Amino acid sequence: MKQITIIGSGYVGTTLAAMLSNSGYQTYLLDIDQTKIDIIKTGKSHFFEAGLDSFITGGIDSGNLFPTVSYEEAIPGSDIIFSCVGTPDNRDGSSNLSFIKKATESTAVHVFKDIIFVQRSTVPVGTGRELIQIFENNTNKKVTYVSNPEFLAEGRAVLDSLNPSRIVLGSDDQKKLEDVQQLFNAIYNFAKDIDVKEFSDFASTYSNFKTKINEPNYIFTSLESAELIKVTANAFLATKISFTNATAKLADASGADITEVMNGVGADPRIGRSFLYAGLGFGGGCFPKDVSGLISNFKDNNVANPILDGVVEVNKSMPEYLLRKLQSLGSEIRDKKVAILGLSFKPGTSDARKSQSVILANLLVDRVDKVKAFDPIAMEEAKHDLSKGVELTSSIEEAVKSVDIVIIATEWPIFKELDWVLAKELMNGNIIVDGRNCLNKEEIINLGFEYVGVGR
Ligand code: UDX
Repeated sequence: MKQITIIGSGYVGTTLAAMLSNSGYQTYLLDIDQTKIDIIKTGKSHFFEAGLDSFITGGIDSGNLFPTVSYEEAIPGSDIIFSCVGTPDNRDGSSNLSFIKKATESTAVHVFKDIIFVQRSTVPVGTGRELIQIFENNTNKKVTYVSNPEFLAEGRAVLDSLNPSRIVLGSDDQKKLEDVQQLFNAIYNFAKDIDVKEFSDFASTYSNFKTKINEPNYIFTSLESAELIKVTANAFLATKISFTNATAKLADASGADITEVMNGVGADPRIGRSFLYAGLGFGGGCFPKDVSGLISNFKDNNVANPILDGVVEVNKSMPEYLLRKLQSLGSEIRDKKVAILGLSFKPGTSDARKSQSVILANLLVDRVDKVKAFDPIAMEEAKHDLSKGVELTSSIEEAVKSVDIVIIATEWPIFKELDWVLAKELMNGNIIVDGRNCLNKEEIINLGFEYVGVGR
């Protein structure tokens, strides 16, 4: 059986390593960060991802998962190596490929037999060719380079790994792709027959997941096409969101309701209802950097795509737009106390990178009397970008107590299901700003609140 190394213990690498080790493969999970590796050795992950820990424990207990910081230990014996390291953005929006290049160089110097190197990180089109050159400069063994972008969304990474919508494999050497296919077939067989008792924390989150497991849908392409599929998919989804948010402003101006509008628009199967939800806009570790990376990619190739500039512009405008809409209620907000509910970039994750909720909280600090904030799990990670002027509270009740305005910035279920009668008693004022259009507007108004949504 082939031996595998996964480089990078983020969402992408850790979930893949957990799945492959549970599917019977000897799998090294390699990361240069000793702290992260030490945590994974104890059978859990160093970030929050629903259900993932039981698969890490499964991998460790089976003796198949080897977390390590050593390239020397992992690479020489491995047949297939996956690169899952981060590609953050540079200040100018282009992709920072320094981590990818470093990981490729560190791998190349330890390659002593023919290998398949699978790129799973999101990279601009053309990167594969550059990395192939690094291997050619450092080893005389045959390295088959494959682009295999991941499409997993945070908060549902385990489900997306067990049941991916598609598996894109792009390479110059299509024959070698069978070896990579074998790995994904093994994950499919594992998912099909999974013993839910063994993975109870996952099964409790996704109770009927077995009915959703489909046979792998392979898409074989050239290297460059595979690279471009990933960023284009993310940029297209981001476009759907910004298109919806721009239309939400027109709905506000004209008296339409954006939810009703998009229910009607999304009923067309050619369009689809997903990613047509208006609100504060998109954030996180993928969409913002993938869109800006693709903009640079277009520029570098002297090709125009004015649509993407608009996507960024609309997204940027949303926190400010919501505040302007709030102010249009007529009352001065300078002397008001505000509670922000939710700091993660979306529910189900502790990730607060490029979170629109954090951006909104920071905007408010200079404009109102006091800003309090609460999130069920993202407060620690949010601190990184959050203004010191935002007071973090240890409960929802503490956050809403004595405030004039409550803003839902991330649609966590606990906020949607909040006892608004009790909240009203605790609050000083009666304004609810629904930054994610996740509340029942009529119910909220009937309770005596003033309601502010996005496009409704
Ligand atoms: C995304 C892609 O979905 C995934 O395929 C890719 O591999 C990585 O990027 P993720 O960043 O985890 O995944 O988040 P996603 O669930 O796609 O949401 C992105 C952002 O868009 C969130 O901030 C969310 O709140 C926002 N969003 C989503 C909307 O504002 N409206 C919508 O209708 C949908």
